[in-house]
Amino acid sequence: MKSLLVYYSFSGNTDHVARLFAGELKKKGEVAIQRLFPKDDIKDFFGQCRAARAHKSADLGEKVDYDASPYDLIVLGSPVWAFAPVPALNTFLSNISGLNGKRVIVLLTSGSGLGVKHCFENIRRILKNKGASTIDDINIPDRLQKDEGHIIDLFNSIFEGKGKSCACCRLL
Ligand SMILES: Cc1cc2nc3c(=O)[nH]c(=O)nc-3n(C[C@H](O)[C@H](O)[C@H](O)COP(=O)(O)O)c2cc1C
Repeated sequence: MKSLLVYYSFSGNTDHVARLFAGELKKKGEVAIQRLFPKDDIKDFFGQCRAARAHKSADLGEKVDYDASPYDLIVLGSPVWAFAPVPALNTFLSNISGLNGKRVIVLLTSGSGLGVKHCFENIRRILKNKGASTIDDINIPDRLQKDEGHIIDLFNSIFEGKGKSCACCRLL
């Protein structure tokens, strides 16, 4: 199985979870990993919130590969900012191609979990419009980010189609 794992992380939480996912995906086959580093990354909290609320894009430079067609599974990871996806993910979602009939797992990391559902719905709508056939959601709130066993179990259960996010990761 060939997987593509693409993610953005500002303060390291999504990076931590994405690396755990990468470890599991490597056991199942080949994994291409792209961490997104916007050239115009916003560093202040209120600027980040404003940009996310306004569905702004980010400048991801020339090197990002947007072609999902070689992969069986695409995993997209992002923190939630102000109930919404981050600008880097907005850009990636606008440009990604080759999603027709593909399986996508959306990984969000969050604080309180407020707005996660809204954020997922936003991402899911774009992925559906681009032809993704199966879209699964995983939310890892801050308080669970150190619980590696839980994160790995959750990933494998979603991967194997055995269930949705558990009660402690439920979407608000
Ligand atoms: C600008 C900003 C806005 C945020 N908005 C939300 C939010 O609406 N809901 C939520 O549950 N967490 C929110 N958070 C918390 C982050 O989603 C959470 O800490 C995440 O794990 C950070 O990921 P990172 O370390 O990969 O950047 C926000 C954090 C920031 C910096």
